[in-house]
Amino acid sequence: MPKNLFDYTNELLQEIENFTTDNKEALEQFRIKHLGSKGTLKQLMKNIKDIPNEQKRAFGQLANKVKQTTEQKFSELKESLETEEEQVSVPDLMRPAELSNIGSRHPISIVKAQMCEIFERIGFVTVDGPEVEDDWHNFTALNTPENHPARDMQDTFYVEKRETLPDMLLRTHTSSAQSRIMKSQTPPIRIIVPGRVYRNETISARAHCQFHQIEGLYIDEGVSFADLKQTLLYFAQEMFGKNTKIRLRPSYFPFTEPSAEMDISCFICNAKGCSVCKHTGWVEILGCGMVDPAVLENCGIDSEKYTGFAFGMGIERSAMLRYKINDIRLMFENDVRFLKQFSATH
Ligand code: PHE
Repeated sequence: MPKNLFDYTNELLQEIENFTTDNKEALEQFRIKHLGSKGTLKQLMKNIKDIPNEQKRAFGQLANKVKQTTEQKFSELKESLETEEEQVSVPDLMRPAELSNIGSRHPISIVKAQMCEIFERIGFVTVDGPEVEDDWHNFTALNTPENHPARDMQDTFYVEKRETLPDMLLRTHTSSAQSRIMKSQTPPIRIIVPGRVYRNETISARAHCQFHQIEGLYIDEGVSFADLKQTLLYFAQEMFGKNTKIRLRPSYFPFTEPSAEMDISCFICNAKGCSVCKHTGWVEILGCGMVDPAVLENCGIDSEKYTGFAFGMGIERSAMLRYKINDIRLMFENDVRFLKQFSATH
């Protein structure tokens, strides 16, 4: 014990008053050093007995002051450290990461991208066309006569008539882009056009008033039906599996001659027969044909020199088959519980 206990105690008081820290650990050391069971304050009290009687009272007061100051200092620092901790809120680095809520791609987008990619691999270029179209590009240029049932008000959404504009409508098929491209480009033309189309149909599990199609058009010298068939076979096997078979059935479209509808062997049941293929083993997937020479002429292309093929298919249909979706309306409701089921990347 130092000679002058008063001096020592005053120095201790000074030291305690000056003490500060922003560190929890250091504050705990401070507590142990001064307030602990073997701390300086306990020592101080023990020393009282060595003080001459007449100084005991003064020393007692000083010792008390040291005690109060220490306790006050400790609780002040503790409180300020705690509020600081609340504000800074040191992250818990061991906590499992929170998965960020990233979106997923719409099944239509996934299937569309895949279809485009397959055709791009064999030289087709993806282009765009307007959804609000004029009557000429959607119908007239495509050999659809004035009184054709496809023009019926039940099928087509017409846009309000304006004196200054030609008859406008929401395109009923992506084939309208065919006439635009043929009018503005010279062959060789090899394009695909994905996009939204509209038909005035009653909405049900199988039909909607809006859906998506992909149009294909290839025009050059000497393009034949064999080229069409081979292109579609390549597509079907890339899209639905190497063992997929195709079948072309004669059909009718105003803008192709000859026309056909293409079925693929049902990949759900391996052509054994199931409810999707209605036990036939075949699923209809697209319409196609050789571009009618009259259509080429309508769009300013020499039909003596050039021939071409075209095809068009619904994207919903393939997406529904692929993902076993049984109601087309799910595609347009944007219910995240539905959308979340599809992979975020293609
Ligand atoms: N446009 C036709 C349809 O919507 C499909 C088609 C496109 C047919 C190109 C032949 C050629 O059904």
